[in-house]
Amino acid sequence: MMQSKVVVVTGGGDGIGRTLVQHLASEGWAVCIADIDETAAKKVAADLVAQGHSVIGVAADVASEKDVHRIGEQAEIELGPISAWINNAGNSRPATLLKMEADAFDSVMAVHARGSFLGLREAARRMVASGTKGVVVNVTSSAGLGGTIGQINYASAKGAIIAMTKSGAKELGRYGIRVNAVAPSASTQMTETIMRDEKFSKIYLSRIPLGRFAESEEMAATFSYLLSGASSYMTGQVLSVDGGAYMVS
Ligand SMILES: NC(=O)c1ccc[n+]([C@@H]2O[C@H](COP(=O)([O-])OP(=O)(O)OC[C@H]3O[C@@H](n4cnc5c(N)ncnc54)[C@H](O)[C@@H]3O)[C@@H](O)[C@H]2O)c1
Repeated sequence: MMQSKVVVVTGGGDGIGRTLVQHLASEGWAVCIADIDETAAKKVAADLVAQGHSVIGVAADVASEKDVHRIGEQAEIELGPISAWINNAGNSRPATLLKMEADAFDSVMAVHARGSFLGLREAARRMVASGTKGVVVNVTSSAGLGGTIGQINYASAKGAIIAMTKSGAKELGRYGIRVNAVAPSASTQMTETIMRDEKFSKIYLSRIPLGRFAESEEMAATFSYLLSGASSYMTGQVLSVDGGAYMVS
């Protein structure tokens, strides 16, 4: 059945993306989960379908142009015209600058920067074609805002996503399409290494004014705000949901 609120969530099989999918489904969104982990995407979708929600799981690599086009196609055929797209999928290959292989740089740039570009373009093309005044939300990081140690590849990609968000907002405003970004911080698979290492964990915690790590559930409402009419006059912005870890002083 065609739905009126259709959102694509990349990397929706785990972490922040999975929580987001659950949250958006409960708000009445029809969700297309696109994840390189097919089993995870299909499992999250099946659980939500069993609860009466409209959710599909698609296996896709966001760094592949063909795959991203297929995500858009499948979402529109099975759910309806896309009204929102969240570029959330991400990987990490940490190493200090002196030790980082070029391959680790390329791999992280491919998933985050190229993947977000492909998603933004796919969403924009479909929204312009259907006349939908839709929303794209990219996922960046405090690393992209303020730099970081041990992940220059990740910080570079997240910085590119911020510039992409602003450029996308400037180009797409004339169609009524909004493009914003969220810089989250939450306990997930991606941050597990930091959380488990006592030394790292202490250093990170000391930089968070709220003095604690967040659960991925605490990120979801900000995304739904950016998808909703409540943020109708907001575009080209980055919202940090990180306990105050990143601030411009
Ligand atoms: N967790 C944090 O504290 C934090 C902080 C800043 C930014 N972020 C960003 O939030 C987003 C989600 O992170 P998370 O912590 O939930 O990570 P996660 O590792 O828990 O989940 C990432 C998901 O993306 C999928 N994925 C990875 N590569 C993919 C690809 N090429 N194509 C499609 N799917 C792919 C994974 O299979 C997984 O389901 C990422 O963009 C990450 O950089 C997270």
